[in-house]
Amino acid sequence: VTSPAPVRIDIGEAGIRSQALVGHGLIDRAAELLESPSGRYFLVFSEGAGPAALQVGAALAGHVAADIPIRDTEEGKSLAGVGAICDAALASGLRRDDALVAVGGGVVTDMTGFAAAILLRGVAWNAVPTTTAAMADAAIGGKTGVNHARGKNLIGAFHPPRRILIDPAAARGLSDRDWRAGLVEAFKTVWIADPDASSRARKRISSLVRRDEEALLSLLVDSVSVKAQIVSSDLREGDRRRLLNFGHTLGHAFEAASGPGTLRHGEAVAWGIAGALWLSRRRAGLPREQESELLEALAALGPYPEPVRDADLMRLYLALDKKANAKGNAGVLLEAIGRARVEEGIPIGEWLEASIAAAIPGR
Ligand SMILES: NC(=O)c1ccc[n+]([C@@H]2O[C@H](COP(=O)([O-])OP(=O)(O)OC[C@H]3O[C@@H](n4cnc5c(N)ncnc54)[C@H](O)[C@@H]3O)[C@@H](O)[C@H]2O)c1
Ligand SMILES: [Zn+2]
Repeated sequence: VTSPAPVRIDIGEAGIRSQALVGHGLIDRAAELLESPSGRYFLVFSEGAGPAALQVGAALAGHVAADIPIRDTEEGKSLAGVGAICDAALASGLRRDDALVAVGGGVVTDMTGFAAAILLRGVAWNAVPTTTAAMADAAIGGKTGVNHARGKNLIGAFHPPRRILIDPAAARGLSDRDWRAGLVEAFKTVWIADPDASSRARKRISSLVRRDEEALLSLLVDSVSVKAQIVSSDLREGDRRRLLNFGHTLGHAFEAASGPGTLRHGEAVAWGIAGALWLSRRRAGLPREQESELLEALAALGPYPEPVRDADLMRLYLALDKKANAKGNAGVLLEAIGRARVEEGIPIGEWLEASIAAAIPGR
């Protein structure tokens, strides 16, 4: 059986060249599709991510200079964890023209990308994401880094991977819950910028929930294209890139208030989007039918555990938001499906109201 050619999506500009490849059977073609100036690869992977790392290793047979297994917990996503990747790569004789390959979820791609950014002042790397969240989001856009005791993702660098191989087979071992939570980010991405892709995404929901890989590929081609366009026009977090934070002001606060391990990131973002939709209807003229349409889509990707909405906790975490100032927090509002804008200084009181109003219909 010959697979059709992968869809190629270019990301980046100003001398930074990065390309996502989306399609079936790409892992088996890793030797042809990944990039290393020297032809040698250092494979960084988590054992929890299933057989994908073994398959990538087999496809690159003869070109793997080192296997570097890591533990991919949020606590391990630290400078020390990246230090261990650096130690292992240098001990195995890493040279400047070698490349790393990350196989895993967002924790593995964030850590490997950051190690690649600092090793020998920068070596090439590639990403083979194994979660829907990393396929839709974490592996795309060049942000890499680790957590600090003072907060998540506080230390890092922009260092885009040369190639991102998006092969749905890599996510087969993922739980249903993680599979669906990751898709929330793909829907979010098309909703902020692409009405046509949004209507295609809506038609695919029931197939996606059944884990149809054709539907996943089609959704990811759309959402990765949108994210690629946004980050290419704006690699370093200017106004357009901020649109990708849709649902994340309340989402991050729900995630923190509910405590570690309670809500998946994508689940917290789903609740955050529900709150942002409520604000969008009041402040940005989002039509009620469109709000309902998106809430229905979120419902289909659920169910989600109830978030903690305690006003004191939410106030605390909203104040820690990077987008907070004296007037309030900036937020991303939807004017219509496929069209978003950033609004500065939305008062905390209104965010708290939105956090109570956020409701996703049951199924
Ligand atoms: N760089 C960015 O732009 C960006 C964007 C979004 C998120 N992130 C980061 O990504 C991280 C979250 O990534 P994630 O949601 O992919 O979760 P994750 O990497 O924490 O993986 C979740 C769990 O799933 C397991 N797993 C991974 N692939 C699997 C598979 N195929 N089968 C079975 N289990 C598998 C992992 O071992 C882990 O236990 C966070 O640290 C977040 O900060 C980064
Ligand atoms: Zn997110």
